[in-house]
Amino acid sequence: MPASLPPGFLAESLGRIKPSPTIAATQKARDLKAAGRDVIGLGAGEPDFDTPDNIKEAAIAAIRRGETKYTAVEGIPELRAAVARKFKRENGLDYTPAQCFVGPGGKSVIYAAMMATLNPGDEVICVAPYWVSYPDIVLLGGGKPVIVDARIEDGFRLQPEALERAITPKTKWIIFNQPSNPTGACYTPAQLKGITDVLLRHPQVWILTDDMYEHLVYGGFKFTSIAAAEPRLYERTLTVNGVSKAYSMTGWRIGYCGGAEPLIKAMTKLQSQSVSNPTSISQWASVEALNGPQDFIPKFQKIFEERRDLVVSMLNQAAGMECPKPEGAFYVYPSIRKLIGKETPGGKKIQTDEDFANELLETEGVAVVHGAAFGLSPFFRISYATSNQLLEEACRRIQRFCGNLR
Ligand SMILES: Cc1ncc(COP(=O)(O)O)c(C=O)c1O
Repeated sequence: MPASLPPGFLAESLGRIKPSPTIAATQKARDLKAAGRDVIGLGAGEPDFDTPDNIKEAAIAAIRRGETKYTAVEGIPELRAAVARKFKRENGLDYTPAQCFVGPGGKSVIYAAMMATLNPGDEVICVAPYWVSYPDIVLLGGGKPVIVDARIEDGFRLQPEALERAITPKTKWIIFNQPSNPTGACYTPAQLKGITDVLLRHPQVWILTDDMYEHLVYGGFKFTSIAAAEPRLYERTLTVNGVSKAYSMTGWRIGYCGGAEPLIKAMTKLQSQSVSNPTSISQWASVEALNGPQDFIPKFQKIFEERRDLVVSMLNQAAGMECPKPEGAFYVYPSIRKLIGKETPGGKKIQTDEDFANELLETEGVAVVHGAAFGLSPFFRISYATSNQLLEEACRRIQRFCGNLR
């Protein structure tokens, strides 16, 4: 077998993107653990809970019924009907089943939307710190990501003036995400109004809202999806969601969206020539997830809220660290501005947030993801979707690491 490929063999588009840094960080932690190191992985973006039993049973029943064949490209009618009901029930949004689309994961739904719409030169606004995949999906689709910073001083929320400045006649989409991965930031209806007022003035801009973490909000925060906050944007909003985070179903690979029927048809055309359809069994499990009892969601919420409070409190006691308390998701995004330029006892200088993450992993065995991966430095992301005991130990190690910096 050749050790390398002939020059020019790989697609140029692949040269524009990088492998997912969060998946890479998770893998690095796994490898070190497998090699016998004592490593606490706080890199992975997935709940540590098991998928609820009623959902598993629905999948087993689907297999027994023989629901094991190709399905409709855009998802089985039963799931699209469940998605339409979910949007009405939880978000107050009216989508008919024909306006709903199912793909193999939320990531795949976003990918389909971008691939189906982007032409060379089209600009897509991504709010930094962003979920790592947005800019790379835009680049794969031949578009141009336009990064707008959401600063820690503004609670990591996009500010209307910054959005206004970023919009050009070439702006096709804004990818909007709340609760945010990686900061956990959410928007109240008043905060959304600032954003939607700007968008109303620019009718060429479509909105892809990624509501994947909507159920993971704390302290009584009430989530509002952007098209519900401003119904005049409904026609040009694609509302994306999925079962991965809310139902602890990351491995099942089901995401969905609601939007304008012609856009849904275009995404279906693309999916018909790529993945064909999401897995039949996972689709039936997702019907149960959306239609079945929702009582475990508040239980998940309560556990995550306690963990958030624990992590925020312990990280704010680490020397030089500033950790805002977010309203949602299961991430915190602390600032290490005051630690940049310091040295470890071993003489390594911390010049970037990547140095910080690497040294933390090397010396204390705690795996986090550095802020540059999310487009805003100097920060790092912790996923607190793990046990209190591990979180406490990890935070103690971070405190020790920071305390030893000079
Ligand atoms: C903000 C955000 N959107 C979408 C996804 C993708 O979810 P899925 O696993 O369903 O593809 C993730 C997963 O990490 C995410 O954090």
